[in-house]
Amino acid sequence: MVTINENYLKLQASYLFSDISRRVKQFKDENPALGARVIRLGIGDVTRALPPACIAALHKAVDEMAVEATFQGYGPEQGYDFLREAIAVHDFQARGAAISPDEVFVSDGSKCDTANVQELFATDSRIAIPDPVYPVYIDTNVMAGRTGVSHNGRYANVVYLDCTRANGYVPALPQQPVDVIYLCFPNNPTGATITRKQLEAWVEYALRERALILFDAAYVAFLRDPELPQSIYEIDGARRVAIEFRSYSKTAGFTGTRCAYIVVPTECMGYDRAGNAYPLHKLWNRRHTTKFNGVSYPVQRAAAAIYTDAGQQQVRGLSDYYLRNAALIRRTLSALGYPCVGGENSPYIWVETGTDSWAFFDLMLQQAQVVITPGAGFGACGQGYIRISAFNDYAKVEEAMARLQKVLPKRATTAS
Ligand code: MLT
Repeated sequence: MVTINENYLKLQASYLFSDISRRVKQFKDENPALGARVIRLGIGDVTRALPPACIAALHKAVDEMAVEATFQGYGPEQGYDFLREAIAVHDFQARGAAISPDEVFVSDGSKCDTANVQELFATDSRIAIPDPVYPVYIDTNVMAGRTGVSHNGRYANVVYLDCTRANGYVPALPQQPVDVIYLCFPNNPTGATITRKQLEAWVEYALRERALILFDAAYVAFLRDPELPQSIYEIDGARRVAIEFRSYSKTAGFTGTRCAYIVVPTECMGYDRAGNAYPLHKLWNRRHTTKFNGVSYPVQRAAAAIYTDAGQQQVRGLSDYYLRNAALIRRTLSALGYPCVGGENSPYIWVETGTDSWAFFDLMLQQAQVVITPGAGFGACGQGYIRISAFNDYAKVEEAMARLQKVLPKRATTAS
């Protein structure tokens, strides 16, 4: 008899974005005429084409694959040196963060990296997870048996870090000891950012408690405020207590092309039950080389092209484009009286509706044919909120906002 991993039974029936896709499909099937009008501002999926520098690099690499002299078979699982070096120099050393190429592991996405990293930790590790949160962090810990069952939208044995209007959507340090902490800035879903001082407090906490911070910086390309830290390694001591995740999905339009990376500094430690320290770099390298065979050569060449002068200019153009959408969304919702956060250093706008967020999702789909993400899908603190994504064409965002102005009830509250 095949016995199942019963931890899966604790999960909600389907993953948040699969659930939304299913509901949208059902709406389109039942209302073909209205279905054709649907504008998606739900999942953060990019719509702009790949930057020309990446396309040129892809073409060139494909041509190299066509002749034996330059053909590539299996590459290094950790990624080609040309990409790891470009990452270390441009994304870290240029900002004073001492990251070396061998601390970078190239992968096919931050979703997989943030999902897989928890394999390194003991099943009884105490995890701290923000609420609201990107659901992959929590769901993968549920699958691994690190939580109890869910009650009122919260799993037992998880320390939830509430992110609310009162704390500016930056969680306070936990009151009880924790071992593994998930942080994401610029934040998905709220779009909030963290200051250097706030991040320093988290690093100090992790150093003091011998905890580990999993820092998801997938949206760093949208930061415009020069005072804000781009990498956790800009903070002293972080090399000992933090793993960072980066992705080209939103930075360079790679959601369908797939390329990302994870940084595991060699000084970053985990401990056995006797308190002996082990470099997480070594453990991750063991996992990565066993379970992953590398990102394809042409895709890594395309990613490396982002670091050329032309590439840098082009990817900046992409994030500028989506930030213009974000500004329009924020302006529109604020003018309707809905308090908003995000959208300034982030492609997501977190909107306080004060009503059931799935009901608001239905209202927007049925009345305006605009797809958003209900805040409750990101955790209990997301109830009463929705997330609007700026990833779409400007003309479609304009159209979506015009529809919302017609159908949304104007709120009396003062917009933030
Ligand atoms: C989101 O909409 O939260 C993201 O696009 C999901 C992801 O990156 O997997």
